[in-house]
Amino acid sequence: MPEPHGSTAVSAGAGSTGAPGRSLLEVEGLTSAYGPVRALDGVTLSAEAGRITAVLGANGAGKTTLLRTISGLVRPQAGSVRLDGEDITKAPVEAMVGKGMSHVPEGRGVIAELTVDENLRVGSLFRGKVGKDEFDRVYDLFPRIAERRNNAAHTLSGGERQMLVIGRALLAQPRILLLDEPSLGLAPRIVAQIFGLLRQLVDRDGLSVLLVEQNARSALSVADVGVVLNLGKVVVTDQARTLMADEGLRHAYLGF
Ligand SMILES: Nc1ncnc2c1ncn2[C@@H]1O[C@H](COP(=O)(O)OP(=O)(O)OP(=O)(O)O)[C@@H](O)[C@H]1O
Ligand SMILES: [Mg+2]
Repeated sequence: MPEPHGSTAVSAGAGSTGAPGRSLLEVEGLTSAYGPVRALDGVTLSAEAGRITAVLGANGAGKTTLLRTISGLVRPQAGSVRLDGEDITKAPVEAMVGKGMSHVPEGRGVIAELTVDENLRVGSLFRGKVGKDEFDRVYDLFPRIAERRNNAAHTLSGGERQMLVIGRALLAQPRILLLDEPSLGLAPRIVAQIFGLLRQLVDRDGLSVLLVEQNARSALSVADVGVVLNLGKVVVTDQARTLMADEGLRHAYLGF
């Protein structure tokens, strides 16, 4: 697979998010349940502009529920979500893209029978008019996807599918990208490639990323800040390198 193309900007949209380090997404006291099962229990965290914030935790920690609640797919019982100061806790899910938030759910959902190009176009429908330049930027970012643009999506490898769904999310020109377990089931080399591209989008274009991962080692190697979730609660929040150096925490919660 070719190396990522280094010179083409994918605009982070309204993504001129101001100075890195400013809090862009703020989650406070978020509590969500599925019937009697409490999946999130008073979660407070923030994602800074122009940074990668990784949320780490084992199976069932509540990572997916966190992203689903932030993006309006699950309604919280308590707590709030603010995006750039605006309270979006009760905003309808279809309004989120317009507000600058793109959610890439777990599972890399593509429409298998459509081509790569058609999948990108379907994804862009939510945004009204998307220019050719914007498609070209995604193809420049993911040359492998560009090569396969006329192939049916079901012929893609797992890594290529992941690139396609990230590319589709980028067409919405998000300020913040929510990513649910992008590394799941991918070879370490492909994970490194995808995370390297994310880093590039953040550093070069000011994109902000909230990355949910069970693969804590890879996520911490690319993230700025890490948040460890366990049984629906935040255990610790710190600089990624500090978490990486904490052997006790790694053994207790991060599985490496
Ligand atoms: N649709 C659902 N109905 C009932 N319970 C659910 C549902 N989805 C998740 N749960 C429960 O909520 C808790 C949190 O699940 P969640 O999927 O958010 O965790 P996760 O950290 O994403 O886990 P994984 O690493 O397996 O993806 C778990 O106890 C899970 O069993
Ligand atoms: Mg999950």
